[in-house]
Amino acid sequence: MEPAKGTGAMSPQNIKQVIKERYTRVVIPSKDSAGSCCCGSGSSCCSPELSTFSENYDHLEGYVPEADFGLGCGIPTMFADIKKGDYVLDLGSGAGNDCFIAAGVVGESGLVTGLDFTDAMIDKARSNANKRGFINVEFIKGDIEEMPLPGSYYDVVISNCVLNLVPDKNRAFAQIKRVLKPTGHFCVSDVVTKGELPAELREDAEMYAGCVSGAVEMEEYLEIIQKQGFKNITVCKENEIVLPQEVLDKYYTPAEQKEKSSLKGIFSITVTASVN
Ligand SMILES: C[S@@+](CC[C@H](N)C(=O)[O-])C[C@H]1O[C@@H](n2cnc3c(N)ncnc32)[C@H](O)[C@@H]1O
Repeated sequence: MEPAKGTGAMSPQNIKQVIKERYTRVVIPSKDSAGSCCCGSGSSCCSPELSTFSENYDHLEGYVPEADFGLGCGIPTMFADIKKGDYVLDLGSGAGNDCFIAAGVVGESGLVTGLDFTDAMIDKARSNANKRGFINVEFIKGDIEEMPLPGSYYDVVISNCVLNLVPDKNRAFAQIKRVLKPTGHFCVSDVVTKGELPAELREDAEMYAGCVSGAVEMEEYLEIIQKQGFKNITVCKENEIVLPQEVLDKYYTPAEQKEKSSLKGIFSITVTASVN
């Protein structure tokens, strides 16, 4: 599939609207959405070239196949150190994939809250939870930049391939700090870049919703976390995302492609940090 042409600079509100429409189509595919791109490998809507993002979940306890649209870029629960009885918040919870894994760990004395701003995702996640009889999982509609959630409430915040989509990442991490208890920590999997991405690629709405064009440089990402006062910042995992040749050809000259090394490009990372 040919990526869409650049749409020029978009306002944060427009970006959010594009994202909501994209992820609605993941759950409710329209007739003409075949091949349109979103993050991951969900066969209903996503372009094959971005299918290398998501990791295999089917071996994990609590796995709910109907919640897995292949939209992640890591497995945050693997490094999140979630304990029985914990209150866990999943940001951009989609159809609930990571929430259901976390629910098994926290048990009935714990709680998992999924937050997402796309109605169709919230509906799908709630329906998945009802079908499986989860009593320790809830899904709340809201924007990560202004979470409709109490402060100092959660032990662990997780998120999978979402914060790159949030226009104001400083605000997102400030909100994470606000909702975490003083003893709390977070574990997020996300897409970052190393080296500059061509401006057209960054502005491309299709690629943005595909978790690439909204990604910031890894150094900047870690600085944002540090600026919010988080401690013990650790990159637990890092994988290069190899773009297909047709995408490279659209945005890079042959000479630039030749120069490209593993120190440059698009990566998925899983990062942990604590409030104190
Ligand atoms: C790439 S999908 C990941 C879904 C899920 N984490 C998974 O791995 O299956 C991104 C999700 O984040 C949600 N999202 C993006 N930006 C958001 C925001 N600012 N506030 C709340 N949800 C957001 C989208 O609606 C979508 O469901």
